[in-house]
Amino acid sequence: MVKICCIGAGYVGGPTMAVIALKCPNVQVTVVDIAEPRINAWNSGTLPIYEPGLDDVVKQCRGKNLFFSTEVEKHVAEADIIFVSVNTPTKTQGLGAGKAADLTYWESAARMIADVSKSDKIVVEKSTVPVKTAEAIERILTHNKKGINFTILSNPEFLAEGTAIQDLFNPDRVLIGGRETPEGQKAINALRDVYANWVPKERILCTNLWSAELSKLAANAFLAQRISSVNAMSALCESTGADVTQVSHSIGTDSRIGPKFLNASVGFGGSCFQKDILNLVYICECNGLPEVANYWKQVVKVNDYQKSRFVNRVVSSMFNTVSSKKIAILGFAFKKDTGDTRETPAIDVCKGLLGDKARLSIFDPQVTEDQILKDLSMKKFDKDHPSHLQPASPTSIKQVSIVGDAYEAIKDSHGICILTEWDEFKKLDYQKVFDSMQKPAFVFDGRNIVDADKLRKIGFIVYCIGKPLDPWLKDMPAVA
Ligand code: NAD
Ligand code: UDX
Repeated sequence: MVKICCIGAGYVGGPTMAVIALKCPNVQVTVVDIAEPRINAWNSGTLPIYEPGLDDVVKQCRGKNLFFSTEVEKHVAEADIIFVSVNTPTKTQGLGAGKAADLTYWESAARMIADVSKSDKIVVEKSTVPVKTAEAIERILTHNKKGINFTILSNPEFLAEGTAIQDLFNPDRVLIGGRETPEGQKAINALRDVYANWVPKERILCTNLWSAELSKLAANAFLAQRISSVNAMSALCESTGADVTQVSHSIGTDSRIGPKFLNASVGFGGSCFQKDILNLVYICECNGLPEVANYWKQVVKVNDYQKSRFVNRVVSSMFNTVSSKKIAILGFAFKKDTGDTRETPAIDVCKGLLGDKARLSIFDPQVTEDQILKDLSMKKFDKDHPSHLQPASPTSIKQVSIVGDAYEAIKDSHGICILTEWDEFKKLDYQKVFDSMQKPAFVFDGRNIVDADKLRKIGFIVYCIGKPLDPWLKDMPAVA
């Protein structure tokens, strides 16, 4: 029986390994992590992450060929194939701070693999890493370890949160990069055999190591670039009377452009896009390519602009001040169907409104009060580092209350900001909502999910990203 060990039981390691275990009954999969509470949660009835369909997959294999453990060294030593799926956040200090990937966790995992291994291993980069990381890892693994062969592969993960299980069941492609040597090709074949249990052979792409590593950064940069492009258009739409949904549809029907990933929004969030683009920017700068670096940097800049534009719109619409006004924040996760808040636009929007002294009442169906308070008190980039490196979360923040229901958040508020596209926000009884609010009652839809015409008939003043403006909003002072 092939033994797989995955280091890192997070959003990628957990679901990915659960699906491998489900699809490959002849493979024994153990997911290890240094975070004991996380492993305990994987072994309990309440998994540490919310992901539709995940519970079902875990229930089917846990205890059969899927195991979660904190005995990291033991399972690494026993494995044939080791996936490394630890976090690679943006560096917060030192050389490349604010841009470069922090490979501390990766390096310590690699050193541990080198220390405890007693047999040949295939080591798979599952984390997103800078191009050429495999070379550094190879040096760490082979240093002082004569007689043991480590073959390194790059197998970046393309799942998106909220649809992870469906993405893993039916991936557009699986990418495996390896050295163009007999050992490299043998390792590629071994990993390809694992995926071939359920992924059609033509969707398993094999490349050299550097292409695989760079393809992951490139894919995220291209995806994020589409969102910043459409968000940049949304600003122009608001100034000209064009409707960004119509523009997206019109350009998306061109088969060369395609319809996906063209939804204008309050900005993209998540643990990957910003981090990976900044990493790409840093790599370009280090390779003496400032023009290329500046091109990609602009994708992040437009995203920051979109978030601050949204805050400015809220404030300017409400007579240029939100001081002491209650504002309901609907949704805090970075997208629907996840409880993940890493780099969620809600953090910047809430901080912006708090900067203007608003009172915020926040509701998200999957994010806990503790998490929201932590996010609103944390510095940029601290988030993805282990909790022992993070400041303790406060028990409260002045002007912020976290509530358990959308109607409670909205009651007596002057305005509503929809920051996550949860389905339940589309289905609210907006007449009841209107009746419970201060007047004039505003809705700022950061995800374009409400029926604006219906809401206007009720009496709301509605702002939707990139849509023709209400006469009320047009008359307000220009948005910076
Ligand atoms: P995560 O923070 O959810 O999980 C990483 C886990 O690794 C943590 O539980 C941490 O405790 C553990 N860890 C760190 N160092 C360790 C060590 N030395 N030994 C054992 N465990 C250790 O991160 P994630 O979201 O799963 O992302 C992991 C990697 O995958 C990142 O490089 C990310 O960029 C990439 N990625 C993420 C996504 C996504 O949607 N989240 C998608 C594709 C790729
Ligand atoms: C992304 C990539 O899609 C995935 O392939 C990679 O493995 C990890 O990073 P993820 O961040 O989980 O996945 O979610 P994604 O669906 O890409 O959404 C990212 C952000 O972009 C969210 O905040 C989402 O709301 C926003 N978004 C997405 C838009 O604003 N408009 C769109 O059209 C699509």
